[in-house]
Amino acid sequence: MTNQWHRPETNKGSMHALPYKNSSLSAPERVDDLMQRLTLPEKIGQMTQLDITMINTTGKQKDVDLDPEKARDMILNHHIGSFLNGEAAPARTWYEFMRELMRISVEETRLGIPVIFGIDHIHGASYLEGATIFPQGINLAASFNPGHARNTGRVTAVEAADLGHHWIFTPILDLGVQPLWPRLWETFGEDPHLAASMGAAFVNGLQNCEETAPLKLAATGKHFLGYSDPRSGWDRTPACLSMQQIHEFHRPSFQKAVDAGLRTIMTNSGEINGVPVVASHEILTRLLRDQMGFEGVIVTDWDDIGKLVNFHYTAENFKQATCDAVMAGIDMSMTPLHLEFNTSLLELVEEGRITGERIDESVRRILTLKFELGLFEHPYPRDDRFERIGCRDNRQQALDAARESLVLLKNDNRVLPVKKPSRIGILGPSANSRRNLCGGWTIAWQGGRESQYPDHIHTIYTALAEEFPDAEVHHFGPDDIPAPKDAAASRASFIEKLNGMDVLVYAGGEEPYCEFAGNITDLGLPENQVHELKLLSESTSPLVLVLVQGRPRLINDVIDIVDAILFAGLPGFEGAGAIANVISGRVNPSGRMPISYPMNPSHYLPYNHKKSNLYFFDPAVANQIVQGSVTNSLFPFGYGLSYTTFEYSDLTLDARSMDTEGSIKATVKVSNTGRVEGVDTVLWFTSTHVGRITRPVKELKHFEKVRLKPGESATLTFVITPDQVAYPDENGDLILEKGKYSIMAGDKKQEFRITG
Ligand code: BGC
Repeated sequence: MTNQWHRPETNKGSMHALPYKNSSLSAPERVDDLMQRLTLPEKIGQMTQLDITMINTTGKQKDVDLDPEKARDMILNHHIGSFLNGEAAPARTWYEFMRELMRISVEETRLGIPVIFGIDHIHGASYLEGATIFPQGINLAASFNPGHARNTGRVTAVEAADLGHHWIFTPILDLGVQPLWPRLWETFGEDPHLAASMGAAFVNGLQNCEETAPLKLAATGKHFLGYSDPRSGWDRTPACLSMQQIHEFHRPSFQKAVDAGLRTIMTNSGEINGVPVVASHEILTRLLRDQMGFEGVIVTDWDDIGKLVNFHYTAENFKQATCDAVMAGIDMSMTPLHLEFNTSLLELVEEGRITGERIDESVRRILTLKFELGLFEHPYPRDDRFERIGCRDNRQQALDAARESLVLLKNDNRVLPVKKPSRIGILGPSANSRRNLCGGWTIAWQGGRESQYPDHIHTIYTALAEEFPDAEVHHFGPDDIPAPKDAAASRASFIEKLNGMDVLVYAGGEEPYCEFAGNITDLGLPENQVHELKLLSESTSPLVLVLVQGRPRLINDVIDIVDAILFAGLPGFEGAGAIANVISGRVNPSGRMPISYPMNPSHYLPYNHKKSNLYFFDPAVANQIVQGSVTNSLFPFGYGLSYTTFEYSDLTLDARSMDTEGSIKATVKVSNTGRVEGVDTVLWFTSTHVGRITRPVKELKHFEKVRLKPGESATLTFVITPDQVAYPDENGDLILEKGKYSIMAGDKKQEFRITG
């Protein structure tokens, strides 16, 4: 390490007098003062984020077990300003780990700059033993209730902040448009407006949570941008997106979060149109900074700079890759297992290939983040509020979210809810599993081992036993179910056992996975599950399929042989209870599909596809598709049944046209025409009849939930303004078409015009 950058003078002793230590000064004033005290290696250290394995005792596992000597080496000799990761550990363990880590950075370094720790608490504080674990993003989206996203952010903040986890790597703002993509379940679904509403609510809940005072947290919007739409469907593989598509579909969820004060953004490790995003000045600077106005910290994803060398092959070596990423606009490199970023960046500045001003820009942003979070005033974790972790109130919030996130897709002959059963059979790979309910990023990256899950968490089997105390709930494990090769007699005797049941619940779906580990070539439901369902359908008992899965596995082979289908997604620790509540009718399901459930093995389209996607349809059928009465997916976006029925009437507009400054008030009456109380989600769509850039068949503009008793009605209002139907061109400039539009709510539709 060159010493020319070191300023030997130490400020110890008179530190309290230094302006950057003075909390009554503004963050910019403090940053100004601190910047002129930093050497170049210290600045570059602030831009580096290392994995926990660089400072823990094992050096391999994600153990939360600090090796102070390693930490000292990284912080004192290499000036590292940030660390990340871990695995579920008890609060006390995290507390001690973070206390010592912070102590080294604050008390042993020349300037006492606290490190900032980033962690993947994706759906609750998922790397903390005993924490409250919420449903995953896809479920939160299915609730169509941003309040649940806000609560997930809030409770995560409350349970994590005291441990020194200041930087939470969520929400995932990528659009869930590619069902093969193994991270679909982390998203808030396929619609830009829904994802934006959920994402901004999450950011608010996490960053503006007063209960963490005096500590504050930063959320991370990720993965900027287009990550979720790879052609192949596999993780981190190329996307081809025009800038127009980016502005119209992929930008809004990030934009709304930025507008809500999002403090950090993580890059997409993949490429768009041949340019890896981490090296794209167009995406990271022109779009994110200049157009979207993001002023916070851009962190790369895991080893994104290394990936330019050994994955994308756009840079010959790490130093070139570092140059490309820094010049594209990243502020911090999640390096995360070596120090090559530091040495490369130092050389690049010394050689004049990157200016000191460029480094200063990023360091200022990072220091601003640390000041704004109050890290200089409150660097240490605290252990006097641990009782809040996994407390009853927080778990109730997770249960409420899980209940509202379940989507009833089919319910022939009203087999659900199950009333006063005396015998229930529960089967399938997710019947007695805790980990399947939670998915990846729970306890560990790929979802922890079953034995790591707390005993008090229900499986669907134990939840049903509790929900129906007077019934005999019988769990048939995998070995109880005859295989196709088994003798006909054993299959017949098994069916015989099932025949007396009041209901058979088959909990199928997927085992947990994360990132590339979840790559698949076949979206079909695993073959053994299809076989088991076919066998069960031979029984005379009603058959309910519960889909515990992170993406919509094709169910064409079984849809007609089951009586009811409940899409449970990944509902988290409280999910089994919620599922049992819906099966018993204690909870009337109100979730809606946040993605289109694909019908065909090779044809997936989000609901807001282009009109020409209906090219081969008879115009009358195409119109019905737009209206939602016929669908080209198995279950369209927004679909979901209830134990009651809702009817829409009187969709009226207070004007038939508006000018470019005007507005039109639309109202619609929704009535509960069934026999039980229920919650309906009213979705307002518009459709632009003619557009210079081809328009989606319809676009969600507003949603609202309404609870109605049997026989009760409510009138809902949506005020539509021109900016809601304007859409961006390839530069992001808005186009407002003059002409005809439709507005739709439920099965009702009206037309209006925008005049010049
Ligand atoms: C994932 C990110 C995650 C990061 C840190 C990456 O592999 O793509 O979503 O935040 O690892 O664990």
